[in-house]
Amino acid sequence: MKILVTGSNGLLGQKLIHLLRSREAVEVLATSSGENRISANKGYTYRSLDVTSEAEVNTVIEEFKPDAIIHTAALTIVDLCETEKEKCHALNVQSVVYLLVAAQRINAHFIHVSTDFVFNGENGPYSEEDEPDPLSEYARSKYKAEQILIKSEYKNWSIARTIILYGYTENMSRSNVVLWARETLRKGGPMNIVNDQFRAPTLAEDLAMGCWLIAEKKAKGIFHLSGPETMSVIEMVRRIARYYEFSEEGITEIDTSSLRQPAKRPPHTGFVLDKARKILDYNPHTLEEGLALIDEQLPL
Ligand SMILES: NC(=O)c1ccc[n+]([C@@H]2O[C@H](COP(=O)([O-])OP(=O)(O)OC[C@H]3O[C@@H](n4cnc5c(N)ncnc54)[C@H](OP(=O)(O)O)[C@@H]3O)[C@@H](O)[C@H]2O)c1
Repeated sequence: MKILVTGSNGLLGQKLIHLLRSREAVEVLATSSGENRISANKGYTYRSLDVTSEAEVNTVIEEFKPDAIIHTAALTIVDLCETEKEKCHALNVQSVVYLLVAAQRINAHFIHVSTDFVFNGENGPYSEEDEPDPLSEYARSKYKAEQILIKSEYKNWSIARTIILYGYTENMSRSNVVLWARETLRKGGPMNIVNDQFRAPTLAEDLAMGCWLIAEKKAKGIFHLSGPETMSVIEMVRRIARYYEFSEEGITEIDTSSLRQPAKRPPHTGFVLDKARKILDYNPHTLEEGLALIDEQLPL
């Protein structure tokens, strides 16, 4: 089986490459913008691919002829999408059009990674049948991309929605809530953390496994792939503090409105995982299990 991964330098992308390169009978083409940032060089090939270039997308897909394409590349900085609307559209929407058309030409399975932010957060946890209602530019861009697939006559696609990704990889372009909280708590704070947003934090290894299971089982349609526990962001940070036995004194509870962020966030998401558990055999780690794994990976 031949699998092409976009955004392979990102958190999910790197985890996917490490997972896929260890699978038997899987040929992997890792692609991302710029140079390869994964130091391991066995078990896969790397090629630079800007997914906002139709010509580059067509060339790479026609040459490699993947059986499945896992599209992780995206502009994931939610507030930046509010001001950089064109960049957000090009990367989060237009790339999907290019990749889907190229996938259709060779009948490849197109697996698109999306987000809990397609929902308005009024009725979480959400199942795959629930109606999206995006609140921000980032959310609308991911929703538009989903709609391109859902409305396409080509049905060889899947959407893997996820929630706050966390994990550790080398050469990360940005941090995530767990690494940031761990580092800030270690110094004793201070941290202002919202108590009115609820999420199911997702270990990047679990999402990578979920995407692989979708490809391996050729499972079509929408799948919710998050961590197994929905909690408030303040609870998440307090659990991280307790896990490492760091003091919680530096933590201050605040509400979302006091942050005055440019992009609106859905208050309460979280996913119902029944479909992924049943069809994919998806079995994600708890937060503490994820922290234990990160501890093994972090450099001393
Ligand atoms: N992170 C979350 O909390 C979260 C939550 C819900 C859903 N998701 C979704 O999950 C997916 C993966 O997220 P992630 O956190 O792993 O993302 P990430 O770490 O931000 O990685 C995205 C990758 O895409 C690459 N990229 C940027 N522009 C590109 C271009 N024009 N062509 C090709 N590659 C390009 C980036 O390269 P550089 O590193 O060189 O910029 C980066 O490596 C995304 O689709 C995101 O929307 C993420």
